[in-house]
Amino acid sequence: MSGYYRWLGLPVEASGYAHSIDDGLLLIHAAMLAIFVLWGIFFAYLLIRYRRKDGVPAKRDSGHGGWGSLVPDFIVMAFEIGLIVLYAIPVWSRIKVDEPMGKVNTIDIVAQQFAWNVHYPGPDGKFGKTDPKLVSFTNPVGLDLKDPAAKDDIVLANEIHLPVGVPTLFNLSSLDVIHDFSIAPFRLKQDIVPGMMIPVWVTPTRIGTYELFCAQLCGFGHSLMHGRVIVESEKDYQAWLKSMAPAQAASQPANSANSF
Ligand code: CUA
Repeated sequence: MSGYYRWLGLPVEASGYAHSIDDGLLLIHAAMLAIFVLWGIFFAYLLIRYRRKDGVPAKRDSGHGGWGSLVPDFIVMAFEIGLIVLYAIPVWSRIKVDEPMGKVNTIDIVAQQFAWNVHYPGPDGKFGKTDPKLVSFTNPVGLDLKDPAAKDDIVLANEIHLPVGVPTLFNLSSLDVIHDFSIAPFRLKQDIVPGMMIPVWVTPTRIGTYELFCAQLCGFGHSLMHGRVIVESEKDYQAWLKSMAPAQAASQPANSANSF
């Protein structure tokens, strides 16, 4: 069954694993509904069956004690353990543990109060060296422009371009406090902890423009900390990449080491 995210009121499914996450949501909600209805029926039955009757004294001991009365609890517990072992762990390990194979598009994300700095390796596919000492207002990721690999690197604020169908690895880091990298249509959400480089990956499967937002209260400007995720065809993506590189090189400061 696909496409039910619409009637669950969820955003569109735009990544390779979005549907697996939604399946989990649906399973859990369906199970909760089933338990609610079954317990409701049982409760109504007890209310009627053991209602007050004239001449019948209340029984303090039903005679139904012991392990037998725990059977419904064991059924619920078995279902929950099954959900974790057979569904949640396999899906989670696919998303969090398995590395994507083959061609991978790598992008560094440097979060700060209150913006997303997006660092691409550029047409050469190599990231220039970065150094926290070089971080400044005009050089938010601390790119070392003396490194030849840095010459064609692209650094954007609040805008991520992705080719459709290509696994993308985001390396998440923060300049200041804890932020949270969240793109709802990808069902991707990851805290960014200062001092750590946290990898997450996703394969965008649907061309379109989506919202990136910070999902961790991080200060006064938290609500302003959002950006655009533009998923486009490989051809459009390559054209964009080409159009970006020269402009980027021109706008970069010649030497940002002393500009802090
Ligand atoms: Cu960054 Cu909220």
